[in-house]
Amino acid sequence: MKLFYSIFLILLAALSLSADSAESNEIEALIVEKAKICQKETNASENDVDEMLDGAEPTTQTSKCLHSCLVKKLGVMNADNKLEPENLTKMVIDDTIKSSDGKTIKSLIKPISDACKSVTDPDECEAGVKIVDCLNAEAVKLGFKTGPF
Ligand SMILES: *[C@@H]1O[C@H](CO)[C@@H](O)[C@H](O)[C@H]1NC(C)=O
Ligand SMILES: *[C@@H]1O[C@H](CO)[C@@H](O)[C@H](O)[C@H]1NC(C)=O
Repeated sequence: MKLFYSIFLILLAALSLSADSAESNEIEALIVEKAKICQKETNASENDVDEMLDGAEPTTQTSKCLHSCLVKKLGVMNADNKLEPENLTKMVIDDTIKSSDGKTIKSLIKPISDACKSVTDPDECEAGVKIVDCLNAEAVKLGFKTGPF
């Protein structure tokens, strides 16, 4: 899962350009705050949190639950364990990553979200991971080199 990884890269870029830094700081603070809440809720370790924020794929049950918890707390996954496209859009604060034909993530968020909006799982820990995997697979189909989420 690279959603948070890309957010952090974006934050670094935004901060160094001091563009939108107030908004970026707010989002960064929000992610860290929610990640800490999720660490407690899922009994995850500091290391699990660090790996998640570094963009590692979840490999253990605990890390799947941690990732899904964060996606839910950020409002990207709703109470029905489904994608909430508007809140996903809000997390894309930098839109400079381009597909092979020069399109940005934001311009393609609708088709990507539409393709993934019925993805779900009764198990919350599985649902969050499935949704992010779907978003990445769709982005790759639309010409992004690697899944940007
Ligand atoms: C976390 O650990 C506590 C204490 O050991 C336990 O009661 C709780 O059920 C655990 N929660 C999860 C999600 O594993
Ligand atoms: C989406 O974001 C809005 C505004 O932050 C929030 O009120 C709403 O609860 C979020 N959706 C979900 C499913 O959490």
